[in-house]
Amino acid sequence: MVKLNIRTDTKKNKQLPMKQLTASLFALALFAALGFYAPAGAPADDAAGRIARAYAADFYRFQAEVGRLAALARHQAEIPLLREQLANARLAFKRVEYLFDYTKTHYNYLHVNGPPLPKIDKEDVNGDIVGPNGLQALDELLYSDEAEEQRAHIQALAAELQKSVDFIAGVHLPLSLTGVQAIEALRSGIVRLFTLGLTGFDTPGSGNALPEAVASLQAMEQAFLLFEGSVSPEARKEYQEAKKLFRKAYYLLRANQDFDSFGRLEFLKQAANPLYEKLLDFQLANGIGAGPFKYQAQDMRARNMFDENFLNTGFYSELSYAPLSNPAAVALGKALFYDPILSGDGKLSCASCHDPARAFTDGLPKSKTHIPGKFTRRNSPTLIDATYSSRYFWDMREVTLERQVAHVVNDTLEFNTDFYEIAARLRQSETYVRMFEEAYGGIGREDIYSRSISNALAAYVNSLTSFNSAFDRYVRGETGEYPADAARGFDLFMGKAACGTCHFAPAFNGATPPFYMETESEALGVTLGLDTLHPQLDPDPGRAENGLRKDARPHYLYSFKTVTVRNAALTAPYMHNGLFNTLEEVMEFYDRGGGAGMGLDVPTQTLPPDPLRLTEREKADIIAFMHTLTDTSGLTVRNVVLPEFEGHPEWNERGVR
Ligand code: HEC
Ligand code: HEC
Repeated sequence: MVKLNIRTDTKKNKQLPMKQLTASLFALALFAALGFYAPAGAPADDAAGRIARAYAADFYRFQAEVGRLAALARHQAEIPLLREQLANARLAFKRVEYLFDYTKTHYNYLHVNGPPLPKIDKEDVNGDIVGPNGLQALDELLYSDEAEEQRAHIQALAAELQKSVDFIAGVHLPLSLTGVQAIEALRSGIVRLFTLGLTGFDTPGSGNALPEAVASLQAMEQAFLLFEGSVSPEARKEYQEAKKLFRKAYYLLRANQDFDSFGRLEFLKQAANPLYEKLLDFQLANGIGAGPFKYQAQDMRARNMFDENFLNTGFYSELSYAPLSNPAAVALGKALFYDPILSGDGKLSCASCHDPARAFTDGLPKSKTHIPGKFTRRNSPTLIDATYSSRYFWDMREVTLERQVAHVVNDTLEFNTDFYEIAARLRQSETYVRMFEEAYGGIGREDIYSRSISNALAAYVNSLTSFNSAFDRYVRGETGEYPADAARGFDLFMGKAACGTCHFAPAFNGATPPFYMETESEALGVTLGLDTLHPQLDPDPGRAENGLRKDARPHYLYSFKTVTVRNAALTAPYMHNGLFNTLEEVMEFYDRGGGAGMGLDVPTQTLPPDPLRLTEREKADIIAFMHTLTDTSGLTVRNVVLPEFEGHPEWNERGVR
């Protein structure tokens, strides 16, 4: 969930048509390049054609609702009336969202239903900022105390939305769709509904999440039923079962429309996950094909949202020197990770600050460096599941795990050396020479150099994934046992406490569903000390000053990467500055609404400053849930034997650190 003062300039809006034009040309080019067409003849594609036509009709309805909203705003309608019409428009949007967001992801994010924050237009050559806009900005504003004073702004936002929707309807419809795309869109729609819809992610003001979930589910169900005439005999059973699951999901949603008490865990186990799986079964049985069409990090072959392969780690390391999945590279990377020979003075290894016994953290607020008494600038984060990310470091300054390595190597407080020196050392070990040759022989000019060293370390970090916690096993149905307090805690985490609006399922980090391509950072207003009466903001500027030109934006001040809460039981102390020693302290902080909730002036804070009003038991339940996310299976034991250096007996004294 994101809240920000959205009374920022509306001047930006004037640039919209030009941008829309660019966006549309880009989209058209993309369509042509990717060959988006519907091959005629296949029955599933007949169904897809029916779905596309129903979608177009729904889209025009959505467009009309937005038109009505803009007209009401123009005519100064009463706030309650505007709210009602916004609800209508949003409900109409929910019917088209699963296909609209699937086919027009970026446009949707920028102009229709993106978070109510300034957004950077990646397709714009200047990376220009688009101000908070669209349905979510309206939802937040219309339900704020300032709605009345903000009329002019509301009117401008509604007019802008109308323009955006009119424009996109013109270029986007009619939609041509294949069977694979239709199923894929439905499956990502289930993920969206569960991870974003039910958490209240896109209804920051109205809290109308459950009625909206019903609308989106119904639209998806109706679309699915359009396969009816195209079901092959082999797929009958899967079709009928998926149909039943849609009904079940609907009844579960209808049975409890109360946001705070809705049973999300039950919904996940009984409806969302089984449906996600059954749609795939149907796709395969009906011969629809299994080729994922959309460029995204979700691996559509996964059967369960909490399967280890649900997110494709390969997506985040597409541009690496060599595939990170190569076992020889992983084995080599593991040896390097524990080897202090990499550091200038031979005393530090990666493991010095990322200890596997502590889920690859070090238990300190800030890490010890090679200079006694000097500490790193920030807290050492867990490396387990760190790979599921488009950015690395608290301030998001690095884009790949490979490039991350250079920061450690060159940092004067950390390895304080360079790749030439490291390579020169490694070449003096026959074992290392052989391992590098096995992993990289013939790829580059040399086997041992900066890129292979970085790749091996990245391959090891990339291998540190863990989806075998008690929670994962329970939601995958591998065990029937799950503590009652943790079950309540999950419902709170994904609902009332809003944790799941930033720590997104399934990695519970900032990788944003349903396509998981981008990692988010957020400003919480983390303080310097624990004094809540006279709080002091941590002056660390975070993302705004991470050295990347495109991130040097005022709204990124004090913004930090949303890290995973998997293994949180093992990763104390918490936050970028290691402020909190316990999860109880973390809960207190969130319950107060972060820094702004404690009265600090944090204009960029994206965590809502309102207190959560959690009871003691609720806080304990959320902690109990986080405790069931512990899984270091196979990752705690170092069992590394460091390679020998034949010419340097003194180096062989070095221990694993
Ligand atoms: C002296 C302590 C120290 C050493 C040695 C060290 N790290 Fe780190 N590591 C940190 C700290 C502190 C951070 C967070 C820094 C920041 O965000 O500004 C970090 C961040 C990271 C991250 C980013 C994680 C994320 O979720 O964004 C990765 C990956 C990582 N380290 C891997 C490694 C590897 C691989 C090595 C060895 C080549 C290594 N580290 C050596 C302390 C250390
Ligand atoms: C607005 C987005 C947002 C919300 C809502 C949110 N978090 Fe966070 N969380 C973050 C960010 C960003 C960080 C890192 C912040 C930093 O270090 O400055 C973080 C850090 C954490 C950490 C520390 C992780 C570590 O290894 O240091 C825990 C634990 C945590 N959050 C749990 C929760 C819980 C529980 C909730 C719900 C009560 C919650 N979060 C709600 C964004 C959010």
